[in-house]
Amino acid sequence: MTDLTFVAEPGGALRGRIRVPGDKSISHRAIMLGALADGATAIDGFLEGEDCLATLRAFRAMGVRIDGPDRGRVTVQGVGLHGLRAPDGPLDMGNSGTSMRLMSGILAGQAFDTVLTGDASLTRRPMRRVTEPLAQMGARIDGTERGTAPLRIRGGQRLTGIDYPLPVASAQVKSCLLLAGLYAEGVTRITEPAPTRDHTERMLEGFGYPLTREGGRTVAVTGRGRLAGTEIDVPADISSAAFFLVGASIAPGSDLVLEHVGVNPTRTGAIDILRLMGADIEWLNPRLAGGEPVADLRVRHAPLHGIRIPAELVPLAIDEFPALFVAAACAEGETVLTGAEELRVKESDRIQVMADGLAALGIAATPTPDGIVIRGGALSGGTVDSHGDHRIAMSFAVAALRARGSIRIGDCANVNTSFPGFAALAREAGLAVRELG
Ligand code: S3P
Repeated sequence: MTDLTFVAEPGGALRGRIRVPGDKSISHRAIMLGALADGATAIDGFLEGEDCLATLRAFRAMGVRIDGPDRGRVTVQGVGLHGLRAPDGPLDMGNSGTSMRLMSGILAGQAFDTVLTGDASLTRRPMRRVTEPLAQMGARIDGTERGTAPLRIRGGQRLTGIDYPLPVASAQVKSCLLLAGLYAEGVTRITEPAPTRDHTERMLEGFGYPLTREGGRTVAVTGRGRLAGTEIDVPADISSAAFFLVGASIAPGSDLVLEHVGVNPTRTGAIDILRLMGADIEWLNPRLAGGEPVADLRVRHAPLHGIRIPAELVPLAIDEFPALFVAAACAEGETVLTGAEELRVKESDRIQVMADGLAALGIAATPTPDGIVIRGGALSGGTVDSHGDHRIAMSFAVAALRARGSIRIGDCANVNTSFPGFAALAREAGLAVRELG
């Protein structure tokens, strides 16, 4: 798939002030809800990464006029809940699980048929978690025998609200069903086993769509309302900031400020975990930006120690584990993660791929069915394979800050799915990483 290699030289420190690109989850949702709204939606800080561009192109293919992105500015001319048009061919979601799972909820409610497809990684990922509850709502969707994409979604079905306890803590499944719920008769009520990111809920409210939250774990929408176009300021992505939070924590002499980072409490598990390990992370100037909490984060080097990661933090840090495993590799003692089997079905099997990469760098990392045990130690240089997983590529790049030799990372082109410009920004902050095309 790719011939992009990163080579990160050992040592260095992260210093200064940087702003990482916009939040991926919020950028996807801004395009989706903007397209389904009545009137225009102006988005600032949109993430111009391949995943969000796949969402944007899909709506263009369904007749939505979208101007931009131009330096993070996108204007979506919403067509209303029933204004989408049949696309000419299959919609390619690339590497993006969020696009495929959320779009399947929207497309289940349309009058026309669609096909959703994706790259080699995405077409291996489990889709029954969305197709089964959507079928309960009355949708007709065919996947492969293994429950994977391509998904053929039949239009013209009548959807009815369901009361659905989520079997896995997944914001993608929750959001898919809430979006299908906009097209359903009656109430769609979803209960999660543990809190997950709530950007869909916050954004629906921002578009003027009523929503009920019952207790901490249940959310309900009533179908057939309307969304009103709005303005959205997308904060910097805490999942992209995480590489720098870890990098500055492990590299002596670091003192870095990450600006305008989204600190929604359903996303800050990595900060909590790093602090439990001894990290020095300060929140400066906390504020609200378009319904989402934002802060500047100051992070300074600190000696880290291993911990047992509290189970309740797992869904709140779900995308940050590759970076956190690097922190664990640089910590004194053992770090134990359990209850994280979901990591095995992300863009790659993140438990196995990280364990293999850490082992190649001389770290004792033992995978378990639902987690990993990592004993901190001295990182050597070496060669690792990211398996086309953007977050694994970036995690091993920052690991070089504490390695004894250079780290060469293969299969890195997918870094562009979530963090275009990563290498240049990392160099600006003090990491000697170069890209070999
Ligand atoms: C996301 C939810 C998470 C996360 C993904 C983005 C979202 O997936 O891993 O990167 O935007 O809703 P799950 O809901 O499958 O855990």
